[in-house]
This record gives sequence, C-alpha cells and structure tokens, in this order.
Amino acid sequence: MRIAFIGDVVGKSGRRAVAELFSPLKKQRKIDFTIANVENVAGGFGIVPKAIDELQAAGVDFFTSGNHVWDNREGVPMLDERANIIRPANYPGASPGTGWRIVEVTGHPIAVINVQGRVFMPPIDCPFRTVDRVLSEIGEKSRITIVDVHGEATSEKVAMGWYLDGRASLVIGTHTHVPTKDCRVFPRGTGYVTDVGMSGAYDSILGVDKKAVLQRFMEMRPCKFQVARGDIRCDLVIADIDPTTGKLVEFEHLQLKQEA
Ligand SMILES: [Fe+2]
Ligand SMILES: [Fe+2]
Repeated sequence: MRIAFIGDVVGKSGRRAVAELFSPLKKQRKIDFTIANVENVAGGFGIVPKAIDELQAAGVDFFTSGNHVWDNREGVPMLDERANIIRPANYPGASPGTGWRIVEVTGHPIAVINVQGRVFMPPIDCPFRTVDRVLSEIGEKSRITIVDVHGEATSEKVAMGWYLDGRASLVIGTHTHVPTKDCRVFPRGTGYVTDVGMSGAYDSILGVDKKAVLQRFMEMRPCKFQVARGDIRCDLVIADIDPTTGKLVEFEHLQLKQEA
C-alpha cells in the first residue's frame, strides 16, 4: 500500500502545487491513497467546499487539519458533512466533526488520526491521552494507522513519535510549514518526520506574502495576510506500508518544484 502525505496546503498557490506538481507524480508512482493537511487551504485560513473539491479532483483522498480549521465559518459544517475531513481529536467539548476515521483502500482499512500539540498553542486536551483513547477505540479494526500530529514544538512532536512507536505506521508532523530533515524509522517500525512542510509558494513567509508578515513583526500591529504566489513547491512524504502487518516498508520525504 503506497500512501502519500502532503504538508499544509496554503491557499490557491498550495492547490496549484498539488494539481501541477503532485497529480502527475501520483499516477507515475502509483500512489493508492493521498492525505493532505488543509487547515490553510481557503486563502490561508480554514476550509471551504470549493477548495476541497479542487484538491479532490487533483487526487487528494483524505484531509486532516489543525488550529486554523475553524477560521472560515463557511467551512466548519463540512467537518460533519464530509466523511473524508477530520480535525484534531483533542479539541475539548462537543466540537463539530471528528478526530479520526477508518477508510477502506483497495480492500484494506486505514485509520487516520489527527491530534494537535499544546506547546505554544491553545491548551486543548492532552494529545497523548487522546491518541491512546482513539487507538483503543480502533483496536483491531485497522492495521494501518496514520497519525497527523499538528504542532509548533519539535520536542512535543518527537515525543509523540516515540510514544506511538510500534502502534502507528506513520506519525507525520504538520503546522510549521517548514520541512524538517529528520525522516526516520523508530525501532518498533513507526515512520516519523517532525514536519512534512507545506504545499504553496516558497517566495513567501510560510506561504504568506512577505510584506504583510514583515510589517506585523516590525510594527506589532495586525496586518491583512495574503497568500503568496511565487516559487510553488509541494512537500510530501511517500510511504510503502505492508497492509497485513501495518508496518512500514519504505519511506521518503520529497519536495516537488516547478522546472526552471
Ligand atoms: Fe498550517
Ligand atoms: Fe496549524
């Protein structure tokens, strides 16, 4: 089973990167199932149906998210309406949507779980205890388990990787938009990367137009952010997983760029 995981898709540039750079690769590499983090897919903030439909047409099958998923009110109902979009499982109370799903791909169940860190982020429920609860609910229903750990602090994400070693096929970090060079396989067979990166414009600050972000840092006032356009790239992980054991066979971290 070949699975692709695409980092935070940022606005129109991110969607273009998926359609123009990832789609051809999906066919070429015979990828069976593609997941993307879409917390920034709608102009950088949240989700909207049109943007999700566009990504689906470009070959993305399933969507995880994070703290920004709540930013666009038009998109929040989709968390209940669409079975292929999840939000972090550790949001407290009766939040819309769900934090995990099991989907069937070529006859094999795949569990996808989304949790969010709490270091330098809103103090939501414990991601470690939440993931334990979700894994016990999943039980034997799925051998393949993919966890999106959406967080700011590298330490918290590495801790989650070790915590889930042997219990998840893949633990993929998202949220920072900066790919980390630490793709590794833990001793009990879990594939891990601290941050997969982003799909979007690299002539930017994390996918956003540089001018406004710089102004915010220098003048400390809120500024209107706009999605940047130049130098689109798509950061992703491609993993081969044995569907009978759920164990990782092979794993690589890629950055797709436009040809010069
Ligand atoms: Fe993000
Ligand atoms: Fe985020």
